[in-house]
Amino acid sequence: MTSYQHIEVKRAAGALGAQISGVDLSKPLAQAVFDEIYAAWLEHHVVFFREQKIDPNQHLAFGKRFGDIHIHPFNKGLDEHPQVLEILKTADMKVNNGARWHSDQMYTAKPAKATMLVAREMPPYGGDTQFSNLHLSYEALSPAMQQMLAGLKGVNNGDSKKYYKFSREERAKMGTGTMPQKEKPEEVQTISVHPMVRTHPETGRKALYFGSHTERFDNMTEAESDTLLQFLTAHATRPEFVYRHHWEEGMLTIWDNRCLQHFAINDYQGYRRCMHKITICGDEPF
Ligand code: SIN
Repeated sequence: MTSYQHIEVKRAAGALGAQISGVDLSKPLAQAVFDEIYAAWLEHHVVFFREQKIDPNQHLAFGKRFGDIHIHPFNKGLDEHPQVLEILKTADMKVNNGARWHSDQMYTAKPAKATMLVAREMPPYGGDTQFSNLHLSYEALSPAMQQMLAGLKGVNNGDSKKYYKFSREERAKMGTGTMPQKEKPEEVQTISVHPMVRTHPETGRKALYFGSHTERFDNMTEAESDTLLQFLTAHATRPEFVYRHHWEEGMLTIWDNRCLQHFAINDYQGYRRCMHKITICGDEPF
């Protein structure tokens, strides 16, 4: 493990994840401190900071250290901070946002590099988020499977009916949507084809790259693709590749979408959970 001079880094699990302490994110960070945070993030893929008192402006300021802030094509942000999405499940809502293994915005041409959530209100129990390490699951495959997947691309659809049965607009009208939708979605590409095995642009390490937005393999039918996609989902989410993240109010967590899938667990019926989310723009996967 790397040693750090300005921050304390405590690993949270075997698969991925680390807590960083000794940092107040409400204040501007010296470059040397930020460089260590960034290095720890690349090493552990998910890093989290407890007991942060930050408002949306400070959240955005920290996010901008990682890159440009992404505007979501479908989901509507806070009135005063359109780049900040509120993920809110109220006590009477039955479904939650993000209860599928996925990687953010993989249906766009340049999917999100990172996602940064601040926990604003948490239920008395539950509401954890699971993360799976797609480097580890790729590396555990046989060489023949790795080689076969290297020749495949996934077709990723941001408004797929394959898993949700209804489009985002239909779900919003039916009252089963989980996020406020823009009246007029952004004019951006929301179906994209990306390699099933991608190379991390900063570390050079290979990872699987697929999720619940992946409807099928390019040039194949859904029926032809389904069995292998189901195997890959089961494989990538084996317990030894997964870290289950428990939130506390005031916690800020940032994860790397280029090598992880995540899944928000819906196990707190009758309670509120509210998160503020920003995503950081990424590059075209290769
Ligand atoms: C998401 O980005 O999928 C939501 C994660 C969460 O609310 O824990």
